[in-house]
Amino acid sequence: MTLQTLALFPELSTAYQTIDTVSELVAVAVGLGAEQVTGWSADEKRLTASLPLPSAAFVNAIKSQILAGADPLGDIYCQLRSPAERRPHGATYTPAQFVEAMTAWAAEQVTPQRVVDPGCGSGRFSVAAGKRFPHATIIAIETDPIAAILARANLAVHELASRATVMLIDYRDVALEPIDGPTLFIGNPPYVRHHDIVPARKEWLVSAAKSLGLHASQLAGLHVHFFLQTALLARPGDLGIFITSSEWLDVNYGELVRKLLTYPLSALTLQIIDPKLQPFPDTATTAVITGFAGSPVTAQVTVRQVEHLEDLGALSRGSLIPRHQLTGAQRWSVLSQPRAARPAGFVELGELCRVHRGQVTGANKVWVTRAGHVDLPGEVLFSTITRAQELFQSGGILHEVHHLKLVIDLPATFEHFTAPDQQRIQRFLRLAVTRGADQGYIAQHRKPWWSVRLHAPAPILATYMARRPPLFVYNAAQARHINIAHGLYPRETLPADVLRTLAKFLSRSASLDGGRTYAGGLTKFEPREMERLLIPHPDVLAQPDAVEELLL
Ligand SMILES: C[S@@+](CC[C@H](N)C(=O)[O-])C[C@H]1O[C@@H](n2cnc3c(N)ncnc32)[C@H](O)[C@@H]1O
Repeated sequence: MTLQTLALFPELSTAYQTIDTVSELVAVAVGLGAEQVTGWSADEKRLTASLPLPSAAFVNAIKSQILAGADPLGDIYCQLRSPAERRPHGATYTPAQFVEAMTAWAAEQVTPQRVVDPGCGSGRFSVAAGKRFPHATIIAIETDPIAAILARANLAVHELASRATVMLIDYRDVALEPIDGPTLFIGNPPYVRHHDIVPARKEWLVSAAKSLGLHASQLAGLHVHFFLQTALLARPGDLGIFITSSEWLDVNYGELVRKLLTYPLSALTLQIIDPKLQPFPDTATTAVITGFAGSPVTAQVTVRQVEHLEDLGALSRGSLIPRHQLTGAQRWSVLSQPRAARPAGFVELGELCRVHRGQVTGANKVWVTRAGHVDLPGEVLFSTITRAQELFQSGGILHEVHHLKLVIDLPATFEHFTAPDQQRIQRFLRLAVTRGADQGYIAQHRKPWWSVRLHAPAPILATYMARRPPLFVYNAAQARHINIAHGLYPRETLPADVLRTLAKFLSRSASLDGGRTYAGGLTKFEPREMERLLIPHPDVLAQPDAVEELLL
């Protein structure tokens, strides 16, 4: 057992055994009665075969910790497996105060006949719900056999074995027996990014969403798959409450969850945990608790931003928002914030300009270069803003480009180049292939893989992710930009002096309020959020003195 664990459980340091390996942990779980819970799989049998059993005194010491409400098995497992080892499986166990608050909220809404805990880990939700609902059966679902064994042990210690089944299966493959009463879906679906999801499962997401008449993005993380599977399993009268990363509230791929939560599910409560609070101790992630009904309902939706974890308390607290506002909103995190009133004479930036994120190259080490570093025709090399720092250093106006790096942007075909230039390009592409430039996710999803397709120069460039407000720079030098900056493109041609005044006004007036704060205080403005910044009416922008007055 690690020193940290000993500190957590000081009385164990006097016991005459420690847990230093996963096998020892599993042996303790068996000693605690893991095998009593239904669903013991071949994998679990193999893992527990011929393990030396720990002493009864040691097992009893752990048992009393579990009965006192702790989860020493889960805690020790998280210490034996580093965050990096757990990340591909999205294994971050939930602190007790969330488990408690979520179970209490569910109990206010329904008395379930069955509890489903998808991605049960060491069984924190299964145990809490099993105790809270003494007549419910419990189905805990997990793909990690070690975690499943730990969940079994916890359920057995709490005398829930006779009502519980642990299934070692992917949640997306689960089918539930029909029952007469309500099912409660409760848990913390794994946060796994789409890069770590195999293509067959992404295809499942798309076709399963289609079966509900919905569109799914292949960029969706695993928690989106869990919401979808829940929507497929849930029946009218069922209830759900999940804690997940809050990304889906706002990003494009989250649209599927937002749609699912209006049909066939219905969001009942959204408790957005202030990102600065870092709700999970061992990982920098955002969190939202979403309570939902298993069928469309008409009630209003409760939305709250939780500013202090001590305030978590009752999850039915918050502002009541009419359901149609959710259906109409592209971003849901803003629903928890009061909208600033628009002063007279101001318009939203989006009325004047479209904001576009810069292009993603897919491999900056290949496509971003310096003059003289590659042998390519000059017409495929574009002076480009590749670091936010270059905008900060511009002093508000980008007058020249000679100090900037170059992005290699090749056209789809090369016929219009001279034969020697074509050879230079082919030579470069062969080298790029040896550096894996054709293999990345972006390269494989664009045609042809070598065309970065930079956007046209934007008259105003903006930083959008920093621990400071965004900076807007008038792009007099017509530099291109990649995805470290957003470009502002006027909807109608605007004179240079109006653009300069606009950039200056935006830099001096933009506060962080419109952006989204990620864990750790980093603030990010999505293009649509930037379009909602308020700016003076174009007539006023044409009068620099009037704008100066507004800024005073
Ligand atoms: C965020 S953890 C939550 C664990 C536990 N419910 C808790 O809250 O403490 C997610 C769990 O889901 C499991 N998991 C990952 N992919 C899964 C899948 N496709 N089906 C079922 N479980 C999965 C992981 O192994 C991990 O234990």
